[in-house]
Amino acid sequence: MSIGRVPLSDAIARLLAELQQLKEGARIEFRGEDLAGSYGEAVDLTVYGSVREGVTNALRHADCSKVEILLRESSNTRTNGRLIPYSLHLSVQDDGRGISPEVTFGYGLTGMKERARALGGEMTIGPRQSGGTTLELQIPYDKASVDGDRSTEPGAAMAAAGE
Ligand SMILES: Nc1ncnc2c1ncn2[C@@H]1O[C@H](COP(=O)(O)OP(=O)(O)OP(=O)(O)O)[C@@H](O)[C@H]1O
Ligand SMILES: [Mg+2]
Repeated sequence: MSIGRVPLSDAIARLLAELQQLKEGARIEFRGEDLAGSYGEAVDLTVYGSVREGVTNALRHADCSKVEILLRESSNTRTNGRLIPYSLHLSVQDDGRGISPEVTFGYGLTGMKERARALGGEMTIGPRQSGGTTLELQIPYDKASVDGDRSTEPGAAMAAAGE
């Protein structure tokens, strides 16, 4: 992929190690399930940027002790009323103070939503039942743009930043 030509899940793991410095005491856990190296530059950059914004928000605004990031492929999802054959699903969940459904988006969430929509995807954010906040993105990708090795070991892309 274009981010330093490293596989998407590795780029995310490095990013999370940097973001850990925003809040040393918080646990950041990343699970990338059976991911390819790249899903095309636009998709990679949108996912990468959304992880950065979502995790930064959790560490800055949520007063949380843990942030969990999950990235996986999904097939045949209904997104914006359309059937999407191939997409990536990203979730960023924290165990912090939660978020009001009526929150006013700043530049960070507005930009994330616009980038997701520009790719035919969608972004949602809201309170978790168990407390904290869940951010979710569904980003369609073109199968012909998928590139790079798929990790063969289950859990190979697991990374707990700072550990
Ligand atoms: N994980 C979260 N937990 C609690 N509140 C959140 C969370 N993420 C976002 N928010 C709330 O949503 C608001 C809007 O977020 P957004 O990222 O759009 O703007 P921002 O972080 O305030 O500024 P910036 O434009 O620099 O990103 C935040 O100010 C905060 O009140
Ligand atoms: Mg923000």
